[in-house]
Amino acid sequence: MLIDISKLNQVGYVTLNVPEIQGWEDGVFEEITKTFGGPIPHSNGSLKFNLTARDDGLKGTYSEKFGKGKFPFHSDGAWLPIPPQYIVLCKTGVRIRPTLLCSFNVLRSEINVDFYSAIFSVRHGYGRRPVPILSTASGKNVWRWDEMCMYPQNGAAKRIASTISHVFENSDELISIDWSKFNVLIFNNWNLAHSRGECSVENENWILKRMLIGAHNVLE
Ligand SMILES: [Fe+2]
Repeated sequence: MLIDISKLNQVGYVTLNVPEIQGWEDGVFEEITKTFGGPIPHSNGSLKFNLTARDDGLKGTYSEKFGKGKFPFHSDGAWLPIPPQYIVLCKTGVRIRPTLLCSFNVLRSEINVDFYSAIFSVRHGYGRRPVPILSTASGKNVWRWDEMCMYPQNGAAKRIASTISHVFENSDELISIDWSKFNVLIFNNWNLAHSRGECSVENENWILKRMLIGAHNVLE
């Protein structure tokens, strides 16, 4: 398996089509761990997490709010001190709906605010903390957005919150990942917001196995 790191750095994502022999997802995760370092645990403590379309999602999750429908653009792990830098998704089964990606940079031309000064209160099981939508880590920009856990605390944040979904949804720079052609997606969660696309078919049977990669997050 060859991960094109330069494409990942330049474009922000790579797709792979890996032969689906027994245990192939574990092989992908092992290779990713060798390349990028160990994964960040999900909020339930597991290193791999299965995502699927469901109507019975846990309280506070996108599945609870949006069921099997489309999800809004967001970052994974926006509630962490530093969100995961890369998200790795391995697909099994049949998935018709796309995953949509959009660069956070599209916000710069559409929303005239100082993004570094836009402060949100982030809420998770660990309480509330103030976080900016844009910060830096390891000398790189770190964007984060999640309408389910980030609440605007100042004027700049309110302006962003009122229009960010519209900007992403209507951007000319949307990237649509067609899962019929690939079974692995790796993308930069610091630069790209992502969403789950619509699906007109009732009975998809896909699972996305997700691994979070990046700066290790010890909650303060
Ligand atoms: Fe997500």
